[in-house]
Amino acid sequence: MNNMLVVQDLKKEFDQGGHKVAAVNGINLAVRQGEFASIIGRSGSGKSTLLSLLGALDSPTSGSIVIDGQDITRLHGPALSRYRRSTIGFVFQNYNLVPNLTALENVLLPMEFARLPKKQQVARAASLLEGVGITGDAQKRKPGKMSGGEQQRVSIARALANHPKLILADEPTGNLDSENGRRVFEILHNLTRSGKATVVVVTHDLEIAGRTSRVFQLMDGKLTT
Ligand SMILES: Nc1ncnc2c1ncn2[C@@H]1O[C@H](COP(=O)(O)OP(=O)(O)O)[C@@H](O)[C@H]1O
Ligand SMILES: [Mg+2]
Repeated sequence: MNNMLVVQDLKKEFDQGGHKVAAVNGINLAVRQGEFASIIGRSGSGKSTLLSLLGALDSPTSGSIVIDGQDITRLHGPALSRYRRSTIGFVFQNYNLVPNLTALENVLLPMEFARLPKKQQVARAASLLEGVGITGDAQKRKPGKMSGGEQQRVSIARALANHPKLILADEPTGNLDSENGRRVFEILHNLTRSGKATVVVVTHDLEIAGRTSRVFQLMDGKLTT
């Protein structure tokens, strides 16, 4: 099977009041197409930094990230926006929903440029929300009227909107009860099983990590496994 993701000598330094912190400090890894991988490690070990580099939300200090054959560290402008919108589904640790839009509108937002009639976009958004257990009038609520767990599930539905090849999720079950956590895990698992997506999740939950096909452990910005 082909590699979906190849990371070489990846480094990201932050300036923290005059001194440099290497949040990601020389990482090499590869994830194959259709794999379900997890990243574990203590708080501050660099998990979120690594994930945002993979999602092209931030650029590395050095090193390369090849996703589906393309070096994403060389993308700029419209090509970068298109890549983020159509190839990647990103689930943020803090959800990042648009506050003045309803659940349904939040899921519709990334489909704005999709070649799909509006009616079908609405049907797809509604069905993605149903898949994560947000049904009926709950789809019309704005983030301010949702629990953390509901916002997390809307953010997962939004990440799936454009059929991304690569789903990157930062603690996607962190705020979910065990039933909804299982539901989200199953959705991600089924996408990998059917070969529709490659998934990389950051998780604190060792039980979840243990059920993925590949576990990467981070410590002080380096992989230990
Ligand atoms: N924007 C930033 N500016 C400065 N330091 C940062 C920034 N983002 C992360 N860091 C630092 O990088 C390290 C790794 O952070 P992070 O990737 O958030 O870890 P994790 O997600 O594993 O908890 C920490 O020491 C953190 O303080
Ligand atoms: Mg984090």
